[in-house]
Amino acid sequence: ATERTLSIIKPDAVAKNVIGDIYSRFEKAGLQIVGAKMLHLSKEQAEGFYAEHKERGFFADLVSFMTSGPVMVQVLEGEGAIAKNRELMGATNPKEAAPGTIRADFASSIDANAVHGSDAPESAAREIDYFFKDDELCSRS
Ligand code: CMP
Repeated sequence: ATERTLSIIKPDAVAKNVIGDIYSRFEKAGLQIVGAKMLHLSKEQAEGFYAEHKERGFFADLVSFMTSGPVMVQVLEGEGAIAKNRELMGATNPKEAAPGTIRADFASSIDANAVHGSDAPESAAREIDYFFKDDELCSRS
């Protein structure tokens, strides 16, 4: 089915100037960008977005990294978009990411891992809502 997923190009990848390269991977895989914005997240925005991880030991480092520079946030739409985006990203830890994936090519550590992608339909809906109003998304399907 046609799905939507939330993608974030993290501060490390924005700093490496590879937004276009990553967008090209989405498009070549048949995913369409139906909304996008560049943001420099506040501490409150990053904490709210990652609220499910707030008890984890890495939470403070995660928030600090995600607020260290601008991010590019986009909604991807397409057939099986959630799984497709996760395949393109590769494993969370770049050391375990398959060759040719975004994280294998651009990420340097589990924190600076280049991209985020929603992991399920429920989180995709919540995450898309967190950053976008309905009229900021332009469906092309
Ligand atoms: P992301 O998909 O954005 O979701 C939470 C992020 O926390 C994850 O990518 C990693 O960048 C970061 N993180 C740091 N340490 C860990 C860990 N041990 N397990 C999972 N995520 C981690």
